[in-house]
Amino acid sequence: MNNASIAIDNLTFKYGKLTVIDNLSLQIPGGISFGLLGPNGSGKTTLIRLMVGLLKPVSGSIRCLGKLPGTANAKNIGYMPQLPSLYTELTVEQNIDFFARIYGMRDRKARQSRIADVIKLVDLWSKRKVSINQLSGGMRQRVSLGCAIVHQPPLIFLDEPTVGLDPELRSHFWKYFAELTCNGSTIIISSHTMDDAAHCQKLAFLREGKVIAQGSPAELRATTGVAEATLEEAFLYCIRHGKVKANV
Ligand SMILES: Nc1ncnc2c1ncn2[C@@H]1O[C@H](COP(=O)(O)OP(=O)(O)OP(=O)(O)O)[C@@H](O)[C@H]1O
Ligand SMILES: [Mg+2]
Repeated sequence: MNNASIAIDNLTFKYGKLTVIDNLSLQIPGGISFGLLGPNGSGKTTLIRLMVGLLKPVSGSIRCLGKLPGTANAKNIGYMPQLPSLYTELTVEQNIDFFARIYGMRDRKARQSRIADVIKLVDLWSKRKVSINQLSGGMRQRVSLGCAIVHQPPLIFLDEPTVGLDPELRSHFWKYFAELTCNGSTIIISSHTMDDAAHCQKLAFLREGKVIAQGSPAELRATTGVAEATLEEAFLYCIRHGKVKANV
């Protein structure tokens, strides 16, 4: 696929003797929101960490925007880890500023203006001078999202970004994600919730380090043969019937 943002071929990763990613191949087109869905321990976080270059595969290959994961690609990538990795003694503003500088946003005025926009987007304006250790869990999630997107990267990895968010903010985030993809960014999101899944343009169902099905939410629902099937039912159907691959 020529317009693939991410091309993964026969990827295998192990923790010791435990195979966590099992000969997995996946093509993720550019400019869409792509959901990785699967139960606890199915390998979503590991796969994301491989794609951003924090882990090295045992075998197989990954190309993100045509490049190997790692430092050469760092400015093109935004990464929100599953557990927020923030400096708890620093304020909201200082944390986002730190990441903006790391990602090479040197122009002070432009950086400050972008940081203000991001803080408003994650709805933390009134908390901008507050240190992280005085924030709630959901607020920390929001700061972590801000840190991942501040440099406006074309490829964004969000590991369970909506966990702990209230419904209003979740819907606000999804509107923003839709804007990002309309502007050409690619978003890879891991999630357990079918609400998130329904917002994604394409999905891959993961189980035991393998992709057991992929396609649009409508295609995956259609694999069950039941018109009103939910994505949850589609997932269970794919588990029961082995590997099903919808057209992508
Ligand atoms: N640092 C580690 N050392 C050893 N095993 C690990 C490590 N991190 C993860 N694993 C194992 O790898 C497997 C996949 O874990 P991973 O975190 O990728 O799953 P996940 O799909 O993200 O799960 P969750 O939905 O709970 O976040 C699990 O069996 C887990 O126990
Ligand atoms: Mg995970």
